[in-house]
Amino acid sequence: MRIFDTHAHLLDEQFDADREELIASLPDAGIARVMEACCDEAGIDRVAGLVARVPFFYGSAGVHPHSADEFRPETLDHIKEALTRERMVAIGEIGLDYHYDFSPRDVQRDCFDAQLALSCELRRPVIIHDREAHGDCMDLLRPYRGRLSGVMHCFSASYEIAKECIDLGLYIAFGGALTFKNAVHQWEIASKLPLDRLLIETDCPYMTPVPFRGTRNDPRRIVLTLNKLSELKGLDPRELSEILYRNSFKAFGIGE
Ligand code: NI
Repeated sequence: MRIFDTHAHLLDEQFDADREELIASLPDAGIARVMEACCDEAGIDRVAGLVARVPFFYGSAGVHPHSADEFRPETLDHIKEALTRERMVAIGEIGLDYHYDFSPRDVQRDCFDAQLALSCELRRPVIIHDREAHGDCMDLLRPYRGRLSGVMHCFSASYEIAKECIDLGLYIAFGGALTFKNAVHQWEIASKLPLDRLLIETDCPYMTPVPFRGTRNDPRRIVLTLNKLSELKGLDPRELSEILYRNSFKAFGIGE
């Protein structure tokens, strides 16, 4: 089985004690590719450094809505430069987070929009974080119709929004939340969406799938999300993993 974990944070301090061992164990566990997602400007060079030394990792560069108030116009140059480095492919994670509101909402919107514009200018995919901000998120995405590519990470909106995102050129990624006992709404959405636009991810160390909720997540746990999605789609996990693996390369615009 080959799995692409399309969203991970292995640079999180929760992995400081065993990061190298854990990364070394991934290929044998079927985790063939990992997208390391960047969260703030200080993370850009750290992600690029990790990706440069782990050949099956890809990386993103970008400023998360939580850090939007540190975003400056020069940050765009830093992102642009990072994307010239090997296997640094996407702009992310970017978006809006009205759950925590760590940065003022107007600042989050400006930061998101500037990075969306950069992704279109550079023709690079985006990794989008949208938490409790679906209306504003879609309003910011629509003007870029025809020029967008990338992923709606940890998808939590409605079926209608998922369809519109696909129509805008994006892929829909499901994480550990799909295994939660109360995720009925997400099960319905995942079962209806077209297979060729779905992805899976861990968002580790967060979003740990059942039955490990409350413990640190890591890319090996993605199998639990894969199994849940297989059940919803009525497909064999091996067959599904191969489809999702191929989708991941298309979503990020990279060759296998
Ligand atoms: Ni994330």
